[in-house]
Amino acid sequence: MQAIVLGLVIVLVGGWNGRADAHEGHDDSKHVLNVEQDNMKKIAKSLGVQCTHCHIEKRANGKPDFEAPSHFKHTAIHMKLDLVDKLKMKDGSELICATCHNGAHQFLPRDVSKAEPSALVASGMSRREIIQKMQIFRKALDVKCDFCHVRGEDGRLDPAQPTKHKLMAKYMIDNFTSKLVTKDGKEVTCGTCHPGKAEFLPRHMAEGGEGEGEGGAE
Ligand code: HEC
Ligand code: HEC
Ligand code: HEC
Ligand code: HEC
Repeated sequence: MQAIVLGLVIVLVGGWNGRADAHEGHDDSKHVLNVEQDNMKKIAKSLGVQCTHCHIEKRANGKPDFEAPSHFKHTAIHMKLDLVDKLKMKDGSELICATCHNGAHQFLPRDVSKAEPSALVASGMSRREIIQKMQIFRKALDVKCDFCHVRGEDGRLDPAQPTKHKLMAKYMIDNFTSKLVTKDGKEVTCGTCHPGKAEFLPRHMAEGGEGEGEGGAE
């Protein structure tokens, strides 16, 4: 996976892992991420964005107000606490922002014209086993079958048809649940990251939600 290669390069070159407590000096204890300029540059590069993607607010002098909260700052902190700090690659290598992001802030597949046929039926899995697996997805995200599948004209589910959510789910199976484990070596399931919701990142918060501040990420 290209992302892993880039990830390794970043580990070798930078070796950052965002531990605020690894940096003595001024009061960094309130930070989750290492906020030194070099590390912020690496984060921006991992996501392929400018500083202002996350640091939206400006000071009176027109410079970014780095301390002000934003949805994307909040999201970045969630990623650090809930993904980077809790999970690792199955092969034991470290999980960093670039492992998943690989230079893009949005990288999940969304283009259904590029969907491949489902692999489950071809794999010889019985209908019963497939449905059992699907029930696990359904419960972890608290959605109905037709969140990921469309219904035909007869009203019956047509699970072979590609959809955006099916594509995203397939990506999570191939890249997340198959390739990641928790830091103590336990299996990663849909429910490890999804708290009973399909969408859960702070980036979706309504405008007013910003006031909760970046410290509020669980
Ligand atoms: C992906 C989002 C993201 C990007 C891109 C980003 N930052 Fe940050 N930045 C954060 C978050 C989140 C914090 C707060 C970290 C914490 O408190 O643990 C932060 C904190 C900071 C701080 C410290 C503010 C304080 O509270 O003392 C500075 C300075 C900073 N960033 C500069 C930059 C610069 C310069 C860039 C571009 C090179 C940049 N950041 C790009 C998310 C980002
Ligand atoms: C285990 C994989 C994984 C890791 C590791 C990870 N992220 Fe993410 N991140 C995601 C997924 C999935 C999304 C949603 C992407 C999409 O919509 O295409 C996302 C979205 C984001 C967003 C919202 C971007 C936008 O423009 O919508 C930010 C900000 C972000 N991540 C920051 C970070 C930072 C900073 C790190 C490292 C501390 C990090 N992520 C590590 C999986 C990961
Ligand atoms: C979170 C998304 C999601 C939900 C919810 C979901 N599915 Fe699926 N379903 C998928 C994905 C992804 C595949 C293809 C997996 C693959 O190719 O490895 C699939 C494949 C299938 C298949 C095999 C179809 C084929 O052509 O391979 C059946 C049958 C199916 N789902 C039925 C269901 C039923 C019934 C439910 C509700 C209990 C359900 N699904 C809920 C994502 C979902
Ligand atoms: C390593 C963490 C992680 C794991 C494991 C994981 N997901 Fe996700 N998933 C995410 C993130 C992050 C997002 C983006 C959520 C957001 O936008 O709020 C996401 C989004 C999705 C979406 C799109 C939701 C939407 O409305 O846009 C689907 C569908 C999905 N996941 C299905 C699954 C399924 C099925 C599994 C188990 C096979 C799974 N995920 C496992 C992190 C994960």
